[in-house]
Amino acid sequence: MITTEGSRNPSRRRLLERVVVGAGGLISALVAIPPLAMFLGPMFRRVPEPWRTVGRVNDFRIGETVQVTFENASPIPWSGQTGLTAAWLRRESEGRFIAFSVNCAHLGCPVRWEGRAQLFFCPCHGGTYYADGSVAAGPPPRGLSQYAVRVQGDQVQILASPLPL
Ligand code: FES
Repeated sequence: MITTEGSRNPSRRRLLERVVVGAGGLISALVAIPPLAMFLGPMFRRVPEPWRTVGRVNDFRIGETVQVTFENASPIPWSGQTGLTAAWLRRESEGRFIAFSVNCAHLGCPVRWEGRAQLFFCPCHGGTYYADGSVAAGPPPRGLSQYAVRVQGDQVQILASPLPL
């Protein structure tokens, strides 16, 4: 009569089967977890508030345009200074602010504000904009892009969304 190890010791065979099934399940889980985390992670990750406080209302004078910096919409922890972006903020009246992109609507060069002339100038091709961001001269096809701005209590906030160049 021929006997095998398993038939001689059925409990040992069952134990080996369970070890093999358990190891297979563990390996499957290790393979499946990274893709699941990638797809489901954003559902559980805290989305940063895209409104950025740039100062208190009374930090800005009516009729004045100043440059403000704020954290961009999707900073990563190690981005440091590169996670910051800027806008030209103009206080129009008691409670009304306008935030302009710092990038020219022509090819994206940074524009600078000249308070005495009340104009934005682009150094690249001579684009010029009025204080309200509309085109005064040069090649820009449209006015400066604007960020949404709101006043919350005494805080001025800019919606840090990406703008078209
Ligand atoms: S990039 Fe500003 S005028 Fe060309």
